[in-house]
Amino acid sequence: MATPFLAALLAAALLASPAPAVYASGGTIVFTTLGRSRYEFDIFSLPLAPSPNVPAGAELRLTDGVSVNYNGNFAPGSDFILFVSERNGSLNLYLSPAPSAAVSSRREALEAASAAATLSPLLPWEPIALKDRPSLTPDGSHLVYVSTAIPAAEPRSSWAAVYSTELSTGRTRRLTPVGVADFSPAVSPSGEWTAVASPGPAGWNGEVEDLRTDIYVFRTSDGSRRSLAIHDGGWPSWADETTVFFHRRDSDGWYSVYRAKISVTDDEVAAGSVERITPPGFHAFTPAASPGAPGLVAVATRRPGSDYRHIEVIDVSGGDSKNAYFEVTKPVAPSVHHFNPFISPDGVRVGYHRCRGSGNGDSPLLLENIKIPGPDTFSLFRIDGSFPSFSHDGKKIAFVGLPGMYVVNSDGSGARRKIFSGNAFPTSWDWKRKGVIYTSIGPDFASESTEVDVVAISLGGDDDDDESSISMKKLTMGGENNAFPSPSPDGKWVVFRSGRSGHKNLYIMDAEDGEAGGIRRLTEGPWSDTMCNWSPDGEWIAFASDRHDPGSGSFAIYMVHPNGTGLRRVVHSGDGGRTNHPWFSPDSKSLVFTSDYAAVSAEPVSNPHHYQPYGEIYTVNIDGSNIRRLTHNSFEDGTPAWTPYFLEPQDVGETLQSSGRCAFEDCHWLNIEDAQPQELIYGKSC
Ligand SMILES: *[C@@H]1O[C@H](CO)[C@@H](O)[C@H](O)[C@H]1NC(C)=O
Ligand SMILES: *[C@@H]1O[C@H](CO)[C@@H](O)[C@H](O)[C@H]1NC(C)=O
Repeated sequence: MATPFLAALLAAALLASPAPAVYASGGTIVFTTLGRSRYEFDIFSLPLAPSPNVPAGAELRLTDGVSVNYNGNFAPGSDFILFVSERNGSLNLYLSPAPSAAVSSRREALEAASAAATLSPLLPWEPIALKDRPSLTPDGSHLVYVSTAIPAAEPRSSWAAVYSTELSTGRTRRLTPVGVADFSPAVSPSGEWTAVASPGPAGWNGEVEDLRTDIYVFRTSDGSRRSLAIHDGGWPSWADETTVFFHRRDSDGWYSVYRAKISVTDDEVAAGSVERITPPGFHAFTPAASPGAPGLVAVATRRPGSDYRHIEVIDVSGGDSKNAYFEVTKPVAPSVHHFNPFISPDGVRVGYHRCRGSGNGDSPLLLENIKIPGPDTFSLFRIDGSFPSFSHDGKKIAFVGLPGMYVVNSDGSGARRKIFSGNAFPTSWDWKRKGVIYTSIGPDFASESTEVDVVAISLGGDDDDDESSISMKKLTMGGENNAFPSPSPDGKWVVFRSGRSGHKNLYIMDAEDGEAGGIRRLTEGPWSDTMCNWSPDGEWIAFASDRHDPGSGSFAIYMVHPNGTGLRRVVHSGDGGRTNHPWFSPDSKSLVFTSDYAAVSAEPVSNPHHYQPYGEIYTVNIDGSNIRRLTHNSFEDGTPAWTPYFLEPQDVGETLQSSGRCAFEDCHWLNIEDAQPQELIYGKSC
């Protein structure tokens, strides 16, 4: 089982020691990642051989049940698997032994768990970046993977690029040209070539449901001989040195798997024949092939009548019309989503990731500490809820569940207290009156005339179960989409957005008596001003607006003095860019926000559903300088808030009653329902 490259890997692991962080008093940023707190992913495998009766115990868990583990790949010539894990507050790549028989005894399970606790990452922690889709070259000397370590030169361009690290020395080289992004690399069986999905020089134009990529092939050793091999395709996988499977969303609306013959000559790499393998009528995507399993390709599917993403194997050896399909995961776990198959080099097993199931894994995290790239003056946390905000003494956090609003102690003690059960967003605490939280109640993402009103919720006592102490006061009356309240630090005013004029603009009203106590208009124009935040020094109101291109869906961050003067734009992520949810730093000198500034970092169809998978968290000085990316993942990060209270950088657990926390939705655009294929093409997910 031991192979020559393991020594090299151990040496590489020694290079990867965590860098100590220096924290000063810049407070804490807390944000949400859609669904991510409930991804209990581990990597599993099943026999590849088509069989109607899968014996009990045939499914093996290959990863250790710690954190979130996904996008596995077998290491060539061994029983080891490579995978992505989010343990320790940052994505990294790991290698661990893959059990070749079920862990049968409790003792073995314990041994496996203790070995797992000492798993070392294959790459250094710094720079903090997304690391994804690992492969090893056949001799085990080089790790080939995606990383977002190096910023793109232009806003709204992906930082994802393919790198190769020599494991014995740590020497790393970028294989993707500067100015280009690459996703989903696959190393050919000989190791000579790597295929990627790339938007090419055209870049990313905001796509989510159908990432517009082409397949390029280049030399794995140095990125040279880069050539466009297949127009319109993603997620390549090599069956042999000249055959690549990939997926494409066809013009009939269905994701389908294709096979291409690639011809490699001294001068060029080019596609020969390209043929569609899976017919219209169901979605098939993220194919995996292997020289060890000639004539077979594993795919993920979404079929009519199934709400779940399953792994199937297609026997493509019989010629076009004779393709045979075999269910792999459905007989074992019918009501679970399975992602991103990969085949062992000997062709015996197919791997994938899914929820590890109930009664296993970490205790639920209320606040997950996330490592920050570069010098840190604040700490960063992901919270298991949306629109979080801290009470001004730092002791409590309010957040929403869409629906529902909750308050928890920021140290994780005590229970989650439900203070409102309807749909409410966002949350912000009064600076002077203790236990008063502003929010707006009604549907989110609604039109100007939708009934939404700003309210103040008073918590009254601290008693977890005492609902009677909670009171609510309605501050706006018209119900014309009055939302996003943010109070002034002197406790006198609340700024909010309202659709009362037929457009969403900003207004300021009396904090205690609401509109009845006085209201004035702050901004005016036929566009949308929204998501406002009042600075702690009282001088500025930051907000998101599409005033540069009304109705386009493009939002940028603006600031204005509360008296209406000094309006300026702070951050704009380029044409069509989306930059939202600004929140001031405790010293009022910078803002935290969410943006598509770094585009997407992976093919969205390879993940659970994210409305805006390009959302990452950034900070910027209020003069627009020094844009700094804080998060690196392929999920939707949003709704950040910043508090002067400094939360120690360590995970904060929470006592939740329910088990079986793993819960998320598959990509909405794959939902089939009773739609005809034509409707699917135009169906919008959000
Ligand atoms: C990484 O995470 C594991 C599991 O959560 C933990 O046991 C270990 O101490 C952490 N290591 C570092 C360096 O933080
Ligand atoms: C508006 O407010 C800003 C910031 O407080 C102040 O500097 C400016 O003088 C004010 N302008 C007027 C016309 O009141």
